[in-house]
This record gives sequence, structure tokens and C-alpha cells, in this order.
Amino acid sequence: MNRFFSRSLTAPLLGLTVLSGCKGLQAPLDPAGPQARQISGVWWLYFWVTLVVYAIVMGVAGLIALRNRRRRGGGRSEPVAEAPTTAPDPAGERRAGWTVGVSIAITTVLLFVLMLSDFFSGRAIHAMANAPDALTIRVTGHQWWWEVRYGEESRPQEMFTTANEIHLPVGRPVQVLLNSSDVIHSFWVPNLHGKKDMIPGHGATVWIKGDRPGTYFGQCAEFCGLQHAQMRLVVVVESAEQFEAWQASQRRPANPPATARQTQGQHVFLGGTCALCHTIAGTPAGSRVGPDLTHFASRATLAAGSLPNTTGHLAGWILDPQKIKPGAKMPPNPLNPDDLHALLEYLSTLK
Ligand code: CUA
Repeated sequence: MNRFFSRSLTAPLLGLTVLSGCKGLQAPLDPAGPQARQISGVWWLYFWVTLVVYAIVMGVAGLIALRNRRRRGGGRSEPVAEAPTTAPDPAGERRAGWTVGVSIAITTVLLFVLMLSDFFSGRAIHAMANAPDALTIRVTGHQWWWEVRYGEESRPQEMFTTANEIHLPVGRPVQVLLNSSDVIHSFWVPNLHGKKDMIPGHGATVWIKGDRPGTYFGQCAEFCGLQHAQMRLVVVVESAEQFEAWQASQRRPANPPATARQTQGQHVFLGGTCALCHTIAGTPAGSRVGPDLTHFASRATLAAGSLPNTTGHLAGWILDPQKIKPGAKMPPNPLNPDDLHALLEYLSTLK
């Protein structure tokens, strides 16, 4: 008996333990926007319905086991002396028929409730599209980082590009236009919305709205090669004023070097391999193979959320990216210590 209950309770108890950890910065059950709230609502409905059904089924099975054991006489499995009764019991048959009928009816109703909740949540999420005052951003998946472009193509002077970090004004709907430059990726910021595949050549759109300021994490959710797991994304939901200030600073070209050391660093950047892949607006570096570094120092992470953006991590990343993210498209850069320090100093000015 004890074993029966301990086994049947393991799954739900384990589930509850896992669920107690579902608050967080990358947690679908801790919604920070209306789309994610709809999805988590459906999730909780499924959870409670299936939990109650599970508890009832286990309870009834336990009761039947207990009753049969008592009938057999305290659990001993010796054959019973008297012959079993095989005569039909009309009252029992009728009761069993009713029980099965009612159970089927309840199951059907529950399945319809779950199906309708899914359907109406999908419609509610869909209805949030095409909001009039929406902000549009373009997110392109690359192996293994995110390119993010802000601004309307009709006003190129306001456009800017960043990477691996999205800023959103709180409470404003955002249309995210998704695409991929190589293989299939999937855009997933669990606190804001479900997953959306990014298929090369097939633009997709997802609407999100952050209604709680904070920093959240996103993650590529479609296996896309060696560094799929380290294709992460920072999403900052902030006040309209903070967002406007951030946008204004991102639109500016990069700060020019202010000291001889920073100038040396810029020469290392422009004269070495860095400029072959990266852009720094306001300098001759304009390649789009790797992330745009114009305001690199303003970002919280480097290598697509793999590391905090600190000088030490950056030095390690520049010298040997393959050690941190094996397979990453960035080659090792065996710089001498003097050049490395000058480069680090220059990059730290790209706020
Ligand atoms: Cu990109 Cu997985």
C-alpha cells in the first residue's frame, strides 16, 4: 500500500518541486506580457485539470486495490477455499454501466474545455497583432547570434543595428519581423511569448508587449548547429523615456578615439581581421558578417549571451573565441599584449 502511494505521488510531487522554480528571467510561467500570460493561462488550466484527473484516478485505483486486498483477507495470496461467484449481479452491472457512461461524459466535456481554452487563447493572442502605435524591429538569426535592426526603411537616418540585445518600451506593442541568414533558428523569449521559427527566406512576424519593466533572457529554440545552446538574447523592457534615450544613443555613430592609446586600439581593429567581419559606424569598418559593434560597450553580454561583457572576458574572447564557443565563426586573434590592451581600451569607449 505504502509503495503504491509513494509511486503514484512521485510524479505530481516532482512536478510541484519543478514548478516552484518557475519564477525567473527566462520562465514561461512568469509572464511579463499579455501574450505570455495567455499561454501560461492555458498551461495552468491543463496542469490543474490533469492533476485533478490524475488524483481521482489514483485515488479510485487505490481504493479498489485496498478493497480487493481486504476481500482476499489481509493481503495473503493463498487461493481462497470457496469457489468464486459467477452469477450475474444486475444491480452491479447497472452501476458499472452508469459509472462508465458518466466517466466518458466527463472526459468528453473536459477535453472540449481544454480544446476551447486553447482555441480562444490563440485567438486572443492573434487579436493583439496590428496595433496602431506599434514599434517595428527586425531580428535576423545567424549561427550563433542575433542581429537586431530598429527603425523604418523610409527613414534611414533613424535606423540602427545592434546585436544580441533588444530594448523595448514598456506597455507598447512591438512587431518583431523575423528572418534567418543561414539555417532555421527559433525566436523565444519565454517571459513574453511562445516560440517562433525563423526560416531562411520566409519572413515571419511575432507580436510582443512587455508590460513589466525588467531584463529577460531569450534563447534560440531550434537546434541550429554546434553553438545552438549559446545563442542567447537579452531583452530589456524599460520606460518610454529610457527607451528613447537608448534609441538616441544607438543612432549616433561610434565615439571617436580620445587618447593615443584608443587611437592605437582603433588601428588594431581597422588594420587587423576585426574589420573584415564587423561594423563600427563612423569608421571604415562596415562588414555585416558578425555583430555590429558601434555601441558594443553598452551591451550587457558578449558572444550572444555567453559571457558578461567585462574586459577580462572580452580579452579571452578576442584571443581565442573557439575555446569559449567551439565552432563559432570568429577566428582566434593572437594579438601581442600591447595591441590587445589598446584594442580593449578602444572597444570600452563604444558606449
Ligand atoms: Cu539558432 Cu538554435
